[in-house]
Amino acid sequence: MTAIQSEAPPRTNGRAMAVEAKQLTVEYVQLRQKRRLVAMWEVSLDIPEGEFLVIVGPSGCGKTSFMNAVAGVVPASSGDLKVFGQPVSKPGPDRAMVFQEYALMPWRTVWDNIKFGLELQGRGNEAATRDTIQHFVKLVGLEGFEKAFPHELSGGMRQRVGFARALAVGPRILLMDEPFAAIDAMTRELMQEEMEKILAETKQTVIFITHSIDEALMVGDRVAVMTSAPGRIKEVITVDLPRPRWQHDIKSMPRYVEMREHIWHLLRSEAQQVLKRD
Ligand SMILES: Nc1ncnc2c1ncn2[C@@H]1O[C@H](COP(=O)(O)OP(=O)(O)OP(=O)(O)O)[C@@H](O)[C@H]1O
Ligand SMILES: [Mg+2]
Repeated sequence: MTAIQSEAPPRTNGRAMAVEAKQLTVEYVQLRQKRRLVAMWEVSLDIPEGEFLVIVGPSGCGKTSFMNAVAGVVPASSGDLKVFGQPVSKPGPDRAMVFQEYALMPWRTVWDNIKFGLELQGRGNEAATRDTIQHFVKLVGLEGFEKAFPHELSGGMRQRVGFARALAVGPRILLMDEPFAAIDAMTRELMQEEMEKILAETKQTVIFITHSIDEALMVGDRVAVMTSAPGRIKEVITVDLPRPRWQHDIKSMPRYVEMREHIWHLLRSEAQQVLKRD
């Protein structure tokens, strides 16, 4: 195995740190079971501005907990967490979430769903807001569907609405928790391509959770592999494959195959530990 692990995050030269997590632990009090559950334990991870960081790891290892801590909706039990140099204490417009279940409001049209985040920022019906919404409707390819309701859309289209809604508020960090998990394989590949094109334009920092190694290697600059619960960072792998990846036949590249196998083995050994414990 050639040197895959990155000692220092790439592309830090002259860039701000978007996220700095130092020995970050998240615990929950589970009232019914009368216990404290350590969801993730002493995670240290720096994410430079503009990076696409993917997190993979066994189910229940604390991936969503990490993302929720960055979003400011779950407090750290111990350790430090900073976003653009500021300690995280609550959600803010600099961070936006895209969910697996789309989380659209069924009674609102595509246009009004995208508008929702802007309304939370106090932006109403002024021309600038309308221009912003129109821009993102176009960017995600939903022109002509502005007046449609979520139930009139396919899963992929709904996910694009969720994506546009998150992008429209102009977050510096986009948090994506298994965003394509409920979409069929072919649409999923197309969504990955579209996302790569869009993010090449908007240059956001992205934290992206997935259970798919192929997806991680298709979209990520680095892939953080977590251990089984309570999750720690097991290894961070730099994905040194050319972009845009969808234009290259990356799946047949020896480097791709090597990285895929490496991550697979890391995850497999974690999954085996879970089975032994159970
Ligand atoms: N709000 C909560 N209250 C209590 N326990 C929680 C809460 N949220 C998560 N947990 C627990 O914390 C652990 C980690 O959960 P988390 O959702 O972060 O895992 P995950 O890695 O995202 O899993 P998956 O891959 O299945 O989505 C789990 O044991 C879960 O039961
Ligand atoms: Mg999760």
